[in-house]
Amino acid sequence: MLVLGVETSCDESAAAIVADGADVRSNVVASQLEHAAYGGVVPELAARKHIEALPWVVGAALSDAGVSWQEIDGIAVTRGPGLVGALLSGWCYARGLARALECPHVGIHHLAAHVHGALMPHLAAGEDVVYPLLALVVSGGHTSLYRLPALRQFALLGETRDDAAGEAFDKVAALLGLDYPGGPVIDRLSDRGDPEAVPLPRAKMSGPFDFSFSGLKTAVRRQALSNRLRPGEPDDPRVLDLVASFQAAVVDMLADTTAAALRAHPVRGLLVAGGVAANRALRTRMQSLADEHGLPLYLAPIDLSTDNAAMVAGWGEGRLRAGGADPFDLSVVATWPLGSGEAPF
Ligand code: KG4
Ligand code: ZN
Repeated sequence: MLVLGVETSCDESAAAIVADGADVRSNVVASQLEHAAYGGVVPELAARKHIEALPWVVGAALSDAGVSWQEIDGIAVTRGPGLVGALLSGWCYARGLARALECPHVGIHHLAAHVHGALMPHLAAGEDVVYPLLALVVSGGHTSLYRLPALRQFALLGETRDDAAGEAFDKVAALLGLDYPGGPVIDRLSDRGDPEAVPLPRAKMSGPFDFSFSGLKTAVRRQALSNRLRPGEPDDPRVLDLVASFQAAVVDMLADTTAAALRAHPVRGLLVAGGVAANRALRTRMQSLADEHGLPLYLAPIDLSTDNAAMVAGWGEGRLRAGGADPFDLSVVATWPLGSGEAPF
């Protein structure tokens, strides 16, 4: 089955063609660079830029895959969670296409799609995924640990009480005057700093699988002020040590809490998904953790970890193949807890 995926929940306009849920035929992502000037995503601007980008992004996905409009069997589009205006741009566009092509469309849960994205390379290679899994979902808007008893089942074990991990990367980069988004910048600069140079706190929460990153962010700000760091100086050795120490603290907190969850909830595999799963230090640490527990690690390549539409198409295929289709009077959902009992699509 050939599915067109459409993703516009934040600041990436993305479209992809995926065959049979895991075979990525094309994966086109247009990142909106306009937000960099504001140090964060401007929702209204994101919505308008998606409308401009979607026709050519979808066109490119079809031509890259060598697929014609008539060959599309169904459309999967992100329905939530995310920025309402941004979601609506993709949602309305995809529904219009579904109407014109007379094919079914399904609205997809963005975080469930991230989880599927981490499984796609393994599914494409014909590997069996054995449940239960433990999934760490780390993105710009979410940081959560789920136990997945079986396919399409998500039990929330813990989540962040304040900032998401990606948000912490972005805010720390912003306070040091570094480029947006901060995650990839700090990942790169950390190679040149000493991760043990600056003592920074690792928050321990009363909920054993919860996270908190705002104290760490404040500690970084205090260090920047007391050392009189000038903004926008990525070559200052003190900045390099500070970002490397910050990244080490985030990775420690994510890995230690995941290790505690693995001890409390025996599983058959560990999965890491979302934009922060692109972080090289986190990837190495999670591989060691999986190895220590003798578990397979499900981790997507970078282009399937950060926002993309291939994960949306792949995840939507299951529902489309089962004959699923959303009615045209459904709308987007800004807040949509995964594992809340509502169908996690
Ligand atoms: O999943 P994603 O692409 O979008 C959301 O659903 O939010 O995640 C975006 C987040 C941003 O905060 C970005 O800074 C972070 O992922 N990110 C990274 C890296 N690449 C992207 N964080 C740390 N290291 C990276 N290499
Ligand atoms: Zn995402």
